[in-house]
Amino acid sequence: MAKFLDKISERAKKLNKVIALPETNDIRTLQATAKILERGIAKIVLIGNESEIRAFAGDLDISGARFVDPKTYERREEYIKAFYELRKHKGVTLESAAEIMSDYVYFAVMMAKLGEVDGVVSGAIHSSSDTLRPAVQIVKTAPGAALASAFFIISVPDCEYGSNGTFLFCDSGMVEMPTVEDLAHMAIDSAATFELLVEDVPRVAMLSYSTKGSAKSPLTEATIAATKRAKELAPNIAIDGELQVDAAIVPSVAASKAPGSPVAGKANVFMFPDLNSGNIAYKIAQRLAKAEAYGPITQGLAKPINDLSRGCSDEDIVGAVAITCVQAAAQDK
Ligand code: COA
Repeated sequence: MAKFLDKISERAKKLNKVIALPETNDIRTLQATAKILERGIAKIVLIGNESEIRAFAGDLDISGARFVDPKTYERREEYIKAFYELRKHKGVTLESAAEIMSDYVYFAVMMAKLGEVDGVVSGAIHSSSDTLRPAVQIVKTAPGAALASAFFIISVPDCEYGSNGTFLFCDSGMVEMPTVEDLAHMAIDSAATFELLVEDVPRVAMLSYSTKGSAKSPLTEATIAATKRAKELAPNIAIDGELQVDAAIVPSVAASKAPGSPVAGKANVFMFPDLNSGNIAYKIAQRLAKAEAYGPITQGLAKPINDLSRGCSDEDIVGAVAITCVQAAAQDK
């Protein structure tokens, strides 16, 4: 089976999407740009001063990129005004908006908001918060979405569980303490995202340390309530809980602990009760099971703005750009 990212890259090539990369003072961004342009995965907008970026790139062929410098861009005043209008109720002035629009990440996200690019990938040198806060402040949630959240696609080698070893883990990167309502919406968004990116039927497990009432506490009650709410909101999606991980993926355990469940024993989407458990779990899968971990990827935003890990490679940036293109195309529909 072609690797997850190979398939996504092939899909991206047919979409002709435009992605902004604001971290142009990091060489991995420019190495990724050269590869993306050479492979025809996306069009790239590099944020910053063109001659400085070209000098930094050295022999890398980034000639196919568009360069946009926030300091001299002809639409700068329009951008400042747009940010001021969006955030004036939070005390932003025209003066502070001008300062914020000089920040490359904020500027790139505003390009997405105003339709000049289809998405943004950042986070090689910024924290998750520094990438995600401009996203939630400027592009905000997509129509019909209750909130934004972040997930990883996890591909475990030689694994018969999930979709041939592929899973979606949510939330592993953004929402620290989801409410019952948040968790229900995130489960539904994750099902749609799994279908979009992995192209298989989602089966969503609302994970816990308890299976079907084996333990009882406020923690398990919250997962049970979120499961009930998600089923109410999306009766056509296979969602079940509360389930332990073994009951979620191992058919024999499912048969004894959760007989009759439409999800137990065959789950491919894991919903975690909070960011601690979701983030810990993806790192365990990555380090101990030698899984490929793609993400954090956002969902629920009006435009795809995706984060990177600061330890990312240039190939990770190429992959994140390809995923962003596929998400952007899905939003066009
Ligand atoms: N979905 C949609 N909107 C959200 C949101 C979400 N998940 N989280 C916050 N917002 C909105 C708020 O409602 C607020 O809107 P408003 O200012 O228009 O009223 C706006 O975004 C900013 O909220 P603010 O309170 O300033 O930000 P925050 O402190 O809640 O931070 C994040 C939001 C996304 C930056 C924060 O959740 C975060 O840092 N997550 C990353 C966690 C992390 O470090 N992960 C690393 C592991 S890989």
